[in-house]
Amino acid sequence: MGRKKVVIVVFPAGARVLAIVALLVCCCKAAAVQGGDGTTSVRESLVGFLTELAGGDEERARGLGWDASVEPCNGNRTVWPGIGCNGAGDGRITSIVLERKGLDGTINATTLCAAARALRVLSLQGNALRGDLPAAISGCSRLTHIYVGANRLSGSLPPSLVHLTNLQVLNVSRNNFSGEIPAGLSKLVGLVRFCGNDNRFNGTIPEFELSRFDDFSVANNNLTGPIPEYSGDFGGDSFSGNSDGLCGRPNFPPCPPSSNDNDEKKRRRVRTIVMCLGYILLGAGVAAFVLYMLCSKRRRRPSGVGVGKSAFDSSSKAATTTDTPSATPGKSAYSLAMSEERTNAAAAVARAPPPASLVVLQRSGTTSTITLNTSAVEAARKLRFEDLLKSPAELLGRGRFGSAYKVVVPGGAALAVKRVKDAAAEEEFRRRMERVGKVRHPAVLPPLAFYCAMQEKLVVYEFLSQGSLAKLLHGSIESSQVALDWPARLHIAAKVADAMAFMHDALRGDGDGEDANLSFSSYSDEAEASAFGGDAIAHGNLKASNILFTATMEPCISEYGVTAPPLPPSSAPSATLRADVRSYGVLLLELLTGKATAADGAELARWVTAVIREEWTAEVFDRAMLSAVASEQGMVRLLQVAMRCIDATSPPPTMREVAGMVNAIREEDDMSLSSEA
Ligand SMILES: *[C@@H]1O[C@H](CO)[C@@H](O)[C@H](O)[C@H]1NC(C)=O
Ligand SMILES: *[C@@H]1O[C@H](CO)[C@@H](O)[C@H](O)[C@H]1NC(C)=O
Ligand SMILES: *[C@@H]1O[C@H](CO)[C@@H](O)[C@H](O)[C@H]1NC(C)=O
Ligand SMILES: *[C@@H]1O[C@H](CO)[C@@H](O)[C@H](O)[C@H]1NC(C)=O
Ligand SMILES: *[C@@H]1O[C@H](CO)[C@@H](O)[C@H](O)[C@H]1NC(C)=O
Ligand SMILES: *[C@@H]1O[C@H](CO)[C@@H](O)[C@H](O)[C@H]1NC(C)=O
Repeated sequence: MGRKKVVIVVFPAGARVLAIVALLVCCCKAAAVQGGDGTTSVRESLVGFLTELAGGDEERARGLGWDASVEPCNGNRTVWPGIGCNGAGDGRITSIVLERKGLDGTINATTLCAAARALRVLSLQGNALRGDLPAAISGCSRLTHIYVGANRLSGSLPPSLVHLTNLQVLNVSRNNFSGEIPAGLSKLVGLVRFCGNDNRFNGTIPEFELSRFDDFSVANNNLTGPIPEYSGDFGGDSFSGNSDGLCGRPNFPPCPPSSNDNDEKKRRRVRTIVMCLGYILLGAGVAAFVLYMLCSKRRRRPSGVGVGKSAFDSSSKAATTTDTPSATPGKSAYSLAMSEERTNAAAAVARAPPPASLVVLQRSGTTSTITLNTSAVEAARKLRFEDLLKSPAELLGRGRFGSAYKVVVPGGAALAVKRVKDAAAEEEFRRRMERVGKVRHPAVLPPLAFYCAMQEKLVVYEFLSQGSLAKLLHGSIESSQVALDWPARLHIAAKVADAMAFMHDALRGDGDGEDANLSFSSYSDEAEASAFGGDAIAHGNLKASNILFTATMEPCISEYGVTAPPLPPSSAPSATLRADVRSYGVLLLELLTGKATAADGAELARWVTAVIREEWTAEVFDRAMLSAVASEQGMVRLLQVAMRCIDATSPPPTMREVAGMVNAIREEDDMSLSSEA
């Protein structure tokens, strides 16, 4: 058995203090090493990177002014030449620009990316750099712009570039790169500029979606094969000088069908045939089923109406045909909900209250300010729920909060029916719709009627045939007759802001009267608005596809208040209104950039924020609106309004304030236009 020696050291008080001080120093040092770009070791790494760029020539590197004894950034201010610092002032390096400095060394990306982790822009063009573009460059994961053109770099482009998911610009032109252009580059959805001209690339061009690109060139290489399809032109010739290897564009030879192509075609044909057979079988099955359903219905109800045309089938059927709990409503849009509930449908019907009927909200064709299509209002007035069920419906779109249908009711009037996915209680929904139905603004589409029963919530609107802003912005060019130039977009932005501000004021809901009937013209101040009771009612789902156009192409907000936005129960009543302000900010971003957003627009907001932070502001704007009448100053100001709306770190402005800002921009824009004319 070994004996353990236990040594107990008792420090005198003074030594203990020393030990604690030493410990503290160690801790601080450790923390500092993990911190931003300013610690000594990081600074030394960066100087090492620069020395390698200078080909090991320490003298030349020193001449460039990177001094390891001072921080590269002082807050957001640049200390080292050629370095850009984070606007947030955390001392992080966001750009390194060393152009035409006669650097003839190599790029050590390992060192660079370990030291400058927040780097977004790297420009080393116009030097005489040797070696390759190292695969480790993908370690700088935030990079958006890489310029290494006009150097003597060789080797092939590293496939790891595909990991730079924020990459927007890649300029490797006028080097000595060889091998193939990594196919993965075509998967970078943000990439809008690729300059690979004047190298020795061989192989084929990856399947870039060229219509998205602002700049693209692979001229003067040794590329072969088809040029990706696109209808535009990048100016100059982006594909020339590839010794006749490329094909498939005007001025290029047509692409010969290669044996590979034939194989692919054969495979595709087989796949098509198999798919067709599948569809035929499926179709036959469905037809047989529908026939069967029709026959069995006929037997039960000799005078039966057409089944399966309507989108609004199941709930009424559950209520009327109590004897057939297994009834399956043909092609109904409700069939899904129905089949889920089928098991307890009979039970539900047994204890259900009498089926709710439509609540008609707008009874006259003209209110003081809004001229509704009289036939639609007339139709809505006489509308019965059964009419909706019987009328042919056409799916217009599906969203997070439900789907919309176009329904042509007996008499020929076209209505838009929104089927709402809304978790709100029936009573809450009914009160909300009634209150919204009372407030009228010329740029807000009023609900004509709504239906609300256990499982179903429907809201009926006049059908506007001119389509939505989303379609106008993101649809194909052929489908939009109206050019959305800058003045048109500013007009839409101002109209929507005004209407939203009006609705917010009117539906703020801090009073308790219920019978005021507000309309735009009678509305004068907020005192009147508070005649309404209940909680504030926000739009809840403001987005480009809910901005419709009237016959005169004026914007009109649809679906106001139809969805209660999902918010944590503890949030303040005004949180719903704030969510609208944020949505409006995202809408502005969409108008300005012309880019579509998914879900809540967070992605687009992040992209714009990143671009602005680097002061590449002009790059965010949609090129389709840049024309003679476009004022960049106005665009930048509108962009600032948008950023204020979506800025989560400070209290957002109210919709009224936003409308004021947008209208000020519009007035100034109008004035500068008329003074130029
Ligand atoms: C730098 O930070 C200061 C405050 O710290 C701020 O006023 C200034 O606008 C910032 N500059 C830039 C370019 O972001
Ligand atoms: C980059 O620099 C580091 C540290 O100086 C060194 O260990 C590494 O070998 C260099 N990489 C290349 C490719 O030169
Ligand atoms: C790409 O780099 C080359 C060489 O530095 C430069 O001449 C060219 O203008 C750049 N192209 C773009 C689109 O930035
Ligand atoms: C380009 O690289 C090849 C080797 O890959 C080399 O032989 C050639 O000299 C280089 N050309 C230039 C202009 O540097
Ligand atoms: C491209 O060139 C490299 C040599 O630089 C060669 O190994 C490769 O096979 C070539 N690829 C094609 C598709 O011609
Ligand atoms: C281009 O590639 C072909 C084969 O792919 C080769 O024969 C030719 O020498 C190459 N030309 C240049 C300039 O590299």
